[in-house]
Amino acid sequence: MDYTDLKLPRHVAIIVDGNGRWAKERGMSRLKGHDAGFENLKTLSKYILSKGVAYLSLYVFSTENFKRDAKEVGHLMDLFVLMYKKELNYFAENNIKVVFSGRDEPLPKRVMEARDELAAKTAHNTGGVLNFCLNYGGRAEIVDAVKKIVRAGINVEDLSEAEFAKYLYQDLPDVDLMIRTSGELRLSNFLLWQNSYAEFYFPKTKFPDFHAEDFDQAVLEYTKRDRRFGAIKDSE
Ligand code: IPE
Ligand code: IPE
Ligand code: MG
Repeated sequence: MDYTDLKLPRHVAIIVDGNGRWAKERGMSRLKGHDAGFENLKTLSKYILSKGVAYLSLYVFSTENFKRDAKEVGHLMDLFVLMYKKELNYFAENNIKVVFSGRDEPLPKRVMEARDELAAKTAHNTGGVLNFCLNYGGRAEIVDAVKKIVRAGINVEDLSEAEFAKYLYQDLPDVDLMIRTSGELRLSNFLLWQNSYAEFYFPKTKFPDFHAEDFDQAVLEYTKRDRRFGAIKDSE
């Protein structure tokens, strides 16, 4: 789709969901669903950033996802390492800055190494930011921010929303468009602070089947929304 004349969301956030059900529908193991989801993740994120979205946040693993069985968690961790290593050149060549949001513990060392290398190699890029929310929890992020603020000895009187936001994992603008695939209608602890005024879009499509055309539909829907931020427009 041609995006030239559209008012683009500056920050898009996606809850990557439905990989397991996608596989089950096809008589395959959940792990195969993650493989398909990851293939799609690469293609889709490239498409979105190539269209001029400045910030893309992807929820790929929540703090709660460690409750899944060890085999599934291990497989997902392998996929992260694979993706971060394989895509390093792509992100570097396309001037994309890759950042991560989430806690270290209990991520395996191999994941943290691949993560840190990718972030370091792309740190100075200026052509769009890709924020992987990995071992991420929205409440954990807020608690971690409070800890940093207390440790820094910030005077309570100096604390404002803008000041607080500086202590979140990454310096990102608010989310404009939040998409969750697979028909689930919840946030599952995703970007609680940043999603405060986001427009929500909940396609039924499971993530491995959510492609460029489906993203185009989400953007078209977004352009029709009336974003008021609490105010009444003069014309009303
Ligand atoms: C999302 O797909 C992927 C991750 C959590 C990493 P799910 O694994 O949650 O798939 P469903 O929701 O069980 O179908
Ligand atoms: C949320 O999806 C986390 C990610 C997509 C990474 P889940 O599939 O884990 O969420 P719930 O359990 O359905 O809320
Ligand atoms: Mg799910």
